[in-house]
Amino acid sequence: MQDLRISVIDRCNFRCTYCMPEEDYGKHYSFLQKKEWLTFGEIVRLTKLFVQLGVRKVRLTGGEPLLRPELNQLLTQLAQITIDDLALTTNGSLLSGQAKELFEAANHLRLTVSLDTLNEEIFHKMSGRRGSVAKVLEGIQKAKDTGFKNIKINAVIQKGVNTTSILDLVEYSRQTGHILRFIEYMDVGNCNHWESTAVVKSKDLLAQIASRYPLIPAVPNYFGEVAQRYRFLDGKGEIGFISSVSQPFCGSCTRLRLSTDGKLYTCLFACDGTDLRTPLREGATDAQLITIISKVWQKRADKYSENRYLFQSLKTHPPKIEMYQIGG
Ligand code: GTP
Ligand code: 5AD
Ligand code: SF4
Repeated sequence: MQDLRISVIDRCNFRCTYCMPEEDYGKHYSFLQKKEWLTFGEIVRLTKLFVQLGVRKVRLTGGEPLLRPELNQLLTQLAQITIDDLALTTNGSLLSGQAKELFEAANHLRLTVSLDTLNEEIFHKMSGRRGSVAKVLEGIQKAKDTGFKNIKINAVIQKGVNTTSILDLVEYSRQTGHILRFIEYMDVGNCNHWESTAVVKSKDLLAQIASRYPLIPAVPNYFGEVAQRYRFLDGKGEIGFISSVSQPFCGSCTRLRLSTDGKLYTCLFACDGTDLRTPLREGATDAQLITIISKVWQKRADKYSENRYLFQSLKTHPPKIEMYQIGG
């Protein structure tokens, strides 16, 4: 295990159609209660144990993590733990207001901002009529001006939805220097009505982009890197492709996911998690918690993406965890 992703809140101020469509998560959907959330103290304690077990990278996710009150206080504490990398994935809508305090809490924090299009109308539809491109761009700019380095952009491309935005996003990335990653549209969760026909395969994206801007493959930064990276031949930055549908990478997965209520999942497509909050709150020692976590990792056999089409055809797969509960 190397990479721990911690969801700090299951709520989100967007309703992206591929994640939490508003017909399923409307006004009356009940999210976790505050008392069910892991406290910052609990998150920090668990993180230190994960680090003892080999974790080198920690990423905070949501829902939308910037909705978690006083997130900067958690970051201040996490910044004191010795790890190689501390990162946060956000939809960017609240970034302009929080960039300064996030930077003060952890100036080495790496930000990944989700941005699927630069077209306001398409963005409005994709975010469930909640978001605005202008606000997200303002957040990214504010983060850059505040001092954040290596800001990344995640874009999910769906056929018939935002394919017209591909080259705009590439141009934005080349102009700003923010690394852009295209994520293949995935069948995460149970309610996004995923169809394989809506997936734009990375190889097709690559061909389209390379015909305009010649690209050369880049050497992976580390074992198990999720994105296949390419550099622009003219030196204007790089882009990446995350191809979990067309080229599953389960075999090199080193990721663990902790939900807001303290359940440990070993796959983005998992059905069950292991409850760590109960033992934590019942006074388990560090050694006992380490035993529980180690057992989970030892018996891990997840290969969902490699078997996706089998599960789809059998229609026997039990309900999966939702993306907003473990954050991608
Ligand atoms: P860096 O640390 O910057 O290299 O980022 P990363 O490669 O860890 O990528 P990030 O954590 O930003 O993940 C990007 C996206 O890839 C996620 O939001 C998911 O959509 C997808 N992803 C990440 N891990 C997995 C995984 O284990 N399985 C699948 N299917 N998708 C994943
Ligand atoms: N397929 C691919 N990526 C997804 N994300 C959310 N849902 C999906 C999906 N169904 C992405 C978001 C965000 C990251 C956390 O995961 O766009 O960038
Ligand atoms: Fe969209 Fe992320 Fe919110 Fe899901 S959690 S609805 S992907 S912004």
